[in-house]
Amino acid sequence: MCARPYDTLAHVYEWLIPDDLLTPTGSAAVFATLLEPLERSARILDCAAGTGQLAVGLAAMGYSVVATDASTAMIQRTRALADAQNVELAALTCSWEELPSRRFEHFDAVFCVGNSLAHAAGHAGRRAALAAMSSLLRHDGLLVVTSRNWETVRSRGSRIELGDRTIERHGRPGLVIHAWTIPDSWEQPHSLDVAVALLDSLPAVTTNYERLTFWPFTHQTLKQDLHAAGLTPCTSTYTSAAERYLITAHKRTESQGPNRNLATAPR
Ligand SMILES: C[S@@+](CC[C@H](N)C(=O)[O-])C[C@H]1O[C@@H](n2cnc3c(N)ncnc32)[C@H](O)[C@@H]1O
Repeated sequence: MCARPYDTLAHVYEWLIPDDLLTPTGSAAVFATLLEPLERSARILDCAAGTGQLAVGLAAMGYSVVATDASTAMIQRTRALADAQNVELAALTCSWEELPSRRFEHFDAVFCVGNSLAHAAGHAGRRAALAAMSSLLRHDGLLVVTSRNWETVRSRGSRIELGDRTIERHGRPGLVIHAWTIPDSWEQPHSLDVAVALLDSLPAVTTNYERLTFWPFTHQTLKQDLHAAGLTPCTSTYTSAAERYLITAHKRTESQGPNRNLATAPR
């Protein structure tokens, strides 16, 4: 089977995420307010599950969880984490494009978080991915997306970010390097080279490296794309100064007008 993006980084993913997202409990706690209205029997899809911290955290809270991801290595980690935590969930290698063919029962909520959506290939790919997520939601079901503020990322241009300290996971120090290639146009593929150098067996250094491709979008474009996918954007934490933001949208019903306006939503 050919390697997919994140199949290498899956093995060192914990060196790339902040301390508070390292546990299932911590990952689910980020979304506590959004989860409050959901019954504990609710069906939730995490469609960019990564190493499974959020999916396992939600399953441990009693939700009925399906975790999908395009990377088989990520899904293997999700399954291993679920086993280690003794929680039940379904974990499947499945890209957003493949979701509609899986014939899932509708979900009450779909999560596409951790800045994943930018990996959808361009405007058409993003709209197709959001349409696939929307098709799996029950009417009025909730979509949750988190994203970097790409306006800010692009304004900084191509650059290398060297970690200014080592990050310790499982007692192993690691140094992380990000190298951004930002082309002139929003529509061109952008790339992010990620290297995680593990320094635990000096003088040998084990380097895990991948070039990730992404297609950024503005907050405004994302709202339009959500709308085009049959979703009504609801709340957003976006500000022009924010590094990252969280946006929610609800699956529209035919009887609902086109706009349940963001202007009235909490930030
Ligand atoms: C930055 S990671 C975020 C993982 C996780 N949500 C988190 O917060 O840690 C992005 C994830 O999106 C997944 N991904 C990228 N393109 C995808 C696609 N077309 N379909 C499904 N998953 C995809 C990657 O495999 C990766 O696990």
